[in-house]
Amino acid sequence: MVEMYGLDAWVAHISGLMMPAVNLDNAATTPPFIDVVAQIGRQMQYYGSIGRGMGQKSQHSSVVYEEGRKAILDFVNADYDDYTVFYTNNTTDGINKLASALANDRDVLVVSTRMEHHANDLPWRGRAHMAYAEVDADGRLILEDFARILRRREYRHMTKYVTVTAASNVTGYVNDVHAIAGIAHRHGAKIIVDGAQIMAHRQFSMGGRPGKDEDIDFFAFSAHKMYSPFGGGAVVGRKDLLNAHVPQFCGGGMVVSVSDDAVVYAEAPDLYEAGSPNVPGVVGMIKAMEILNEVGFDNIIEHEQKLLRRALDGLSKIDGVVLYGDNANIADRVGILIFNIKGQQPVDVASELASHANIAVRHAAFCAHPYVRRLEGKAPHELSGMIEAPTGMVRASLGIYNTEADVDLFVRTVAEIVGASCARPMSAAARRLYKEQSKIPNDRA
Ligand code: ALA
Repeated sequence: MVEMYGLDAWVAHISGLMMPAVNLDNAATTPPFIDVVAQIGRQMQYYGSIGRGMGQKSQHSSVVYEEGRKAILDFVNADYDDYTVFYTNNTTDGINKLASALANDRDVLVVSTRMEHHANDLPWRGRAHMAYAEVDADGRLILEDFARILRRREYRHMTKYVTVTAASNVTGYVNDVHAIAGIAHRHGAKIIVDGAQIMAHRQFSMGGRPGKDEDIDFFAFSAHKMYSPFGGGAVVGRKDLLNAHVPQFCGGGMVVSVSDDAVVYAEAPDLYEAGSPNVPGVVGMIKAMEILNEVGFDNIIEHEQKLLRRALDGLSKIDGVVLYGDNANIADRVGILIFNIKGQQPVDVASELASHANIAVRHAAFCAHPYVRRLEGKAPHELSGMIEAPTGMVRASLGIYNTEADVDLFVRTVAEIVGASCARPMSAAARRLYKEQSKIPNDRA
């Protein structure tokens, strides 16, 4: 049984009483494991600069930091000879650094998808020519789109990249990124995978089927979605490709020599790590990987699928609840579901879940506006131009430590919100009071 930090910290209920909090917002961020926090605390005794000093603590911290790269390569089954790891603050930071290095002229084609989080769409826009694979009526990716786009005559002489999420932060669909890698490579493109939502839920491997050219070229992820605190992350990438470019994020630590008018850049990973690095972020992330391996991904999948099925079955029995996506076949989904209550705004439903049962969920459009508009069934003319943010949905997302009791409380509370007892939206005054007490922020786009 894993132990999470802070699960025993109660929060203020609308009644004024302090009560346990139930976190069903793990796709946004996961609470840290207790052992992760303890490991970071132990490392703080050896606090020292990384790669910049001969002091014993600096040397010790530098070894821990460098060894962490191997632990990450092992976690994603990457070959030490072909791949390296550079540390980042989170997935967004990693993808922005990659985009700044790989896509800095208009002769670059980037094929993204309409399923992406803004973090795997916006960093590429403006830096490259963009094309997008579409999603079907259930919200799954249309794999044929990748080949259809990459085959186009006008893209023949361009440098090509495909960038795709391993799992959606909105519907939880897990994409077959190795099959997509095969398509990309057969058409002369490299592949980048956004791993934010996969790391804590499925075993991820940089390697695809032997001999099928399905290996992943770049993979970015965050520590704070895998039970380590905010501020850590990494990109696993092919050394030859990383060394062929220079990121537009510069400073100390990424050079060998600087003269008055010339710069000799270091090789990756240092090339991608300007500035003083985040050792606690690395230490926590490595410990979290160790614990996830101990628990085992087979057990994690079994547990989260069971809870997802229970939540979907419960919600589907409530008249007035609208579920999105394919809720019959969930084997290719991590523990994420989205829904609405007819006639109620997502923000009101999320507020009522918090105020009536201390349940944290996320609402609105999940930093994935193009995808959410498609799930809402918008017509093509409603997808472009300077349009308003989508109203969106309510999202519940599960973690390794959630229980059947959490799910049952969630389903029961949704039923109550639909029913007469809480059908009215929470008053503005009550919402203000609740937000002041619990400091739950508003949705961010
Ligand atoms: N990407 C995070 C989410 O989906 C913040 O909530």
